[in-house]
Amino acid sequence: MAIGETIRNRRTIKAFKPDPIPEAEWTAWLEAASHAPNHRMTEPWEVLVVGPNARAELNHKTDFGQAPLVLAILSKPAPTPLDRDENLMASACFAQNFQLAAHEAGAGVFWSSIGASPRNRAILGVPEDYDVVGVFGVGYPAEVPPAKPRTPIAGKIKRLP
Ligand SMILES: Cc1cc2nc3c(=O)[nH]c(=O)nc-3n(C[C@H](O)[C@H](O)[C@H](O)COP(=O)(O)O)c2cc1C
Repeated sequence: MAIGETIRNRRTIKAFKPDPIPEAEWTAWLEAASHAPNHRMTEPWEVLVVGPNARAELNHKTDFGQAPLVLAILSKPAPTPLDRDENLMASACFAQNFQLAAHEAGAGVFWSSIGASPRNRAILGVPEDYDVVGVFGVGYPAEVPPAKPRTPIAGKIKRLP
């Protein structure tokens, strides 16, 4: 798949088949994701594999679309607010790379914000000062929703003199 096609056709998947993803596959997508840009090579991302007990406690409203695998991506703390923002930006690049690598391989990802609340941070055992980028259902799509139209990019471009 050409990169433009991979980017355009990726969708947030909300219903998964039960088929498990071999660990060698999803770890290869994480490895690909780790080629994300990151300031001063901080590589600020960390990945939690969310086991069945934690997953049940999270009590997500659709159980992550019945995904066979649930991961959380965390972003490491930093000494200054700017460094922390940069860590979070790099970790978001990592998350998007992961989504694209999964999509290219015929899988899909559901990015959920459920990990942000204090309750869910505690369930996930997130250390203080870490950011939760998201909690991600990962699997082979049972349904692929239609693309949501985007604003024409010309309307997002401002030209400075
Ligand atoms: C930071 C972030 C948090 C998100 N959190 C949620 C969420 O909690 N629940 C959800 O259904 N989708 C969530 N999404 C997915 C967006 O809803 C989705 O990307 C958007 O609707 C566009 O759809 P698409 O990804 O299929 O293009 C999140 C996406 C991002 C980048």
